Amino acid sequence: MNIIIFGPPGAGKGTQSKFIVEKYNLYQLSTGELLRNEIKKETVLGSQISSIINSGELVSDEIVSKLIQNFISDQKYKEKLIFDGYPRNLNQAINLDNLLKQSNQKINLVLNLSVSLETIKKRISERQYQEKRSDDNEETAIKRFKTYEKTTKPLIEYYKNSNLLKEVNGESTINEINIKISGLIDSIKGWQ
Ligand code: AP5
Ligand code: MG
Repeated sequence: MNIIIFGPPGAGKGTQSKFIVEKYNLYQLSTGELLRNEIKKETVLGSQISSIINSGELVSDEIVSKLIQNFISDQKYKEKLIFDGYPRNLNQAINLDNLLKQSNQKINLVLNLSVSLETIKKRISERQYQEKRSDDNEETAIKRFKTYEKTTKPLIEYYKNSNLLKEVNGESTINEINIKISGLIDSIKGWQ
């Protein structure tokens, strides 16, 4: 089973991915975390990525595609991936479909976590003291939300058309969302 977890900044993609990984023995592929690891290496590429992330815009499709390719072709992760934060635009969605096809895989479920901008601001302002992410200030969080609304949200239609999309209320408690997502995963035919 391959799952996409989709939603605006602070929706709970990372929180829920970690829960699914543990319960269903899958692997989380967070492009945001891969990019932040690249920044830690202090390379030229890392510093370019850093300024884009801090502006709240998207890093180029080429850079992100390179980061995910190895995971998709690796047997270890075959049919065991949770895509957290990828795809984020139509080009990335098509690229993902093609990469999966090349290794005889597909997406089985797309979870759409929805939350309001008010909730996002509250969650991100609380998290900024714990994780110290450079993009966790109110100004960048609002820009990230705008980028999501403009570029990423339209992808919902793409996945609606393929009948894979399931809506999840991201405003509920972490535990209530865990239960909802487990139910959706368990109901997928063929899942053991
Ligand atoms: P990324 O790291 O993916 O950040 P994001 O999408 O902005 O989302 P977050 O990680 O902030 O939130 P989340 O949904 O994971 O929520 P979380 O579980 O942490 O991307 C960062 C940047 O990298 C992008 O802006 C872009 O520049 C670049 N990038 C990444 N992928 C890219 C791509 N594919 N293409 C191009 N560029 C890309 O929860 C948030 C907080 O709320 C936590 O403190 C958590 O404890 C709390 N919380 C979670 N759920 C609940 C709940 N139900 N109730 C109460 N609190 C909750
Ligand atoms: Mg995250």
